[in-house]
Amino acid sequence: MTHDARQPTSRSILAAARQRLSRRAAVRGAIGLGIGLAGVGASGSRQRVMADQATPGPVAPGSTIVVPPGLRTDLAGTPLNCQFGYRGPDTAFDDAATRIFAEATGIEAVHTIGDASVTDQLTQILTQLGAQTSDVDVYQIDVIWPGIIAEHAVDLSASLAAQAKLMFPEAIANDTVGGVLVGMPWINGAGLLFYRTDLLEAYGFAAPPATWSELETQAAAVQTGERAAGASDFQGFVWQGNAYEGLTCDALEWQASSGGGSIIEPDGTVSVDNERAAAAMERAARWVGTISPPGVTTYEEPDCLNLFATGNALFMRNWPYAWNASQDVGSAIAGRVGVAALPAGDEPGNHSAAALGGFALMVSRYSQHQDAALEFVKYLTSPELQRSYVIERGNLPTIASVYDDPAVAAASEFVPRLRPIFEGGTVARPSSVAGPFYNDVSVAYQAAVHQILTGSLEASPALKDLAGELETIMADLKG
Ligand code: GLC
Repeated sequence: MTHDARQPTSRSILAAARQRLSRRAAVRGAIGLGIGLAGVGASGSRQRVMADQATPGPVAPGSTIVVPPGLRTDLAGTPLNCQFGYRGPDTAFDDAATRIFAEATGIEAVHTIGDASVTDQLTQILTQLGAQTSDVDVYQIDVIWPGIIAEHAVDLSASLAAQAKLMFPEAIANDTVGGVLVGMPWINGAGLLFYRTDLLEAYGFAAPPATWSELETQAAAVQTGERAAGASDFQGFVWQGNAYEGLTCDALEWQASSGGGSIIEPDGTVSVDNERAAAAMERAARWVGTISPPGVTTYEEPDCLNLFATGNALFMRNWPYAWNASQDVGSAIAGRVGVAALPAGDEPGNHSAAALGGFALMVSRYSQHQDAALEFVKYLTSPELQRSYVIERGNLPTIASVYDDPAVAAASEFVPRLRPIFEGGTVARPSSVAGPFYNDVSVAYQAAVHQILTGSLEASPALKDLAGELETIMADLKG
């Protein structure tokens, strides 16, 4: 899929969207919130007018979204474009959130959607930022990108200091490069195992697998049984096997959960060439065409979700949002999905490892509407919005206090249960240590793992060569 087909970022398309929004926001925003837009922004020395002067409360039928207090309304009429990445099943929520912001502040916010693969998104964003485009004011950025795109970001550390204090300190540390807060943490991610509760029970398995061996046993038994019963395409386990950033996450989990290290350790040591990592890769290669479809080496997150949500797989590795997405109206498996930590290796001392993922929001240095952009970032990353995002869409908060909200536990039982994973039980990709060269590291790793999975290379020599490549990258970084 090319970006061009799906990225309406040209000025003309944005202008048309803004015009449409402008009419609606002017009418509904002003009436709905009792704010006199005509009086705002008329003078040079504007006074800040806050949206919380209107009565806060859910502002869209059926939506849990509450407008946070303190948003500026003196920027009404400012056009604003936010470029999200792949939002897939969360698009309707994002649409509502953007519309509600526009209505509350009068800022004419629109958003566009990126490619499903964050690897492709990065290429696109670097092209835009390299050209210093002012078409995009706010970017959704991956947790692994701050070191790559810091030079293009507005430093949020002073302007959004109060908001930053609410966030997990680790997330702020991750998004800070050389003292510059590159993005405000927005969504927390961690790899999880999704499974069919009804099928495990039917085949006599009392609990989801604690080890990869158990996963293989359960997947093989259920797959064989379901195929014999007529579901000829039924799959035991689906995961992200295409050569892109998702594979970096999955493969890191396989090796870290087997005591095989985290590719490059935080002190800069390249650790990927080791027997445990090689054994973990060989184990995954065995899944291809046995408990996983032969085509799994082309799968990304949406492919896995489609297969799982249509009832055609027992296990799926995915991110927390897959919970709500598999429970949505019309899902073939609503009420029959369990969520667990990913399995660990079989050796004593092996622990489950969940790749740390997620997103922040960045204000572009080239934006001509930086004040309005800050308001949008403040709004979307606020406790109020993060609460709604986890309740309605299962996207995990980056604010600790939101996890304590009883409505969060009521909406997604696994969030409080698996909280230790989200707070410290994760394994980070080596993006901080590799800084601006992280993408080179990840691409080299994906390529090597993919060749092992497709059978064109043996694991041990492939990891040895990879280690050499990574040493060169890290030497370039130092030099
Ligand atoms: C998810 C994660 C992100 C990761 C990506 C890989 O979107 O939040 O951090 O890079 O998956 O596909």
